[in-house]
Amino acid sequence: MSSLTSIEAGSNTRPNSGGIHVAIISDGNGRWATAKGLPRSAGHRAGAETAREIIEAAPSLGIHTLTLFALSSANWQRPTQEIAGILRLLHEYLLTETSHCMEEGVRLTVIGRRDRLPINLRQAIGDAEAATAGGKRLHLRLAIDYSAREAIYQAACRFYKVTELSCEAFGKILVDFRGGSTDVDLMIRTGGEQRLSDFLLWECAFAEFVFLEKRWPDFTASDLHMAMQEFTKRERTRGTLPAA
Ligand code: IPE
Ligand code: MG
Repeated sequence: MSSLTSIEAGSNTRPNSGGIHVAIISDGNGRWATAKGLPRSAGHRAGAETAREIIEAAPSLGIHTLTLFALSSANWQRPTQEIAGILRLLHEYLLTETSHCMEEGVRLTVIGRRDRLPINLRQAIGDAEAATAGGKRLHLRLAIDYSAREAIYQAACRFYKVTELSCEAFGKILVDFRGGSTDVDLMIRTGGEQRLSDFLLWECAFAEFVFLEKRWPDFTASDLHMAMQEFTKRERTRGTLPAA
């Protein structure tokens, strides 16, 4: 990639705080594999490789926070074998990538439920979060067993007990909940579908959306670059009038 530096935060890419937050619904692993006559697990493995490439490219594109949808709470409805394979892959990923994250200044945190995850994965998540806590170049958030509705519901249950009833106070509870929330600037979905699938519902209130036909294993750093260029062209009014 030669011209990554050409993306700079202009007025319409003004981040919420300290950099642009890109969230990705990395869809299409299964179809990618099936189209090649491979088992779906091969698609998930290839998808993990794509994640590596994208994480590496993100900081030089002005991305400060990157949230990847690794496993949705809705995915438990898939065959046990497929889920077991994804969980194994996530475990393997955390074990091999933690030192790489530390070298690259990547802080890794996980959002979502942990109580239904295998104990070894829970342990690896805790270890990776602790080891990478000092990372300043990129905040990588992996959503694992994540449901935005569930996160909002849980925050609402806690909100019930607080004395200051305001939208901001509610937002703060959501921030503290399971790895936190932060407004999304750009939401990318690969794989051809155009829906949010219970991902970051609250956080996408003012997000820009880019939907791509490409399946996640075929997505590259240059696709991310193009999505960021598209993002810089959008005028983000947040309910106000566009600049004259
Ligand atoms: C996304 O790819 C990865 C996960 C949900 C873990 P899919 O597995 O949904 O792939 P398709 O949509 O069936 O092609
Ligand atoms: Mg899918």
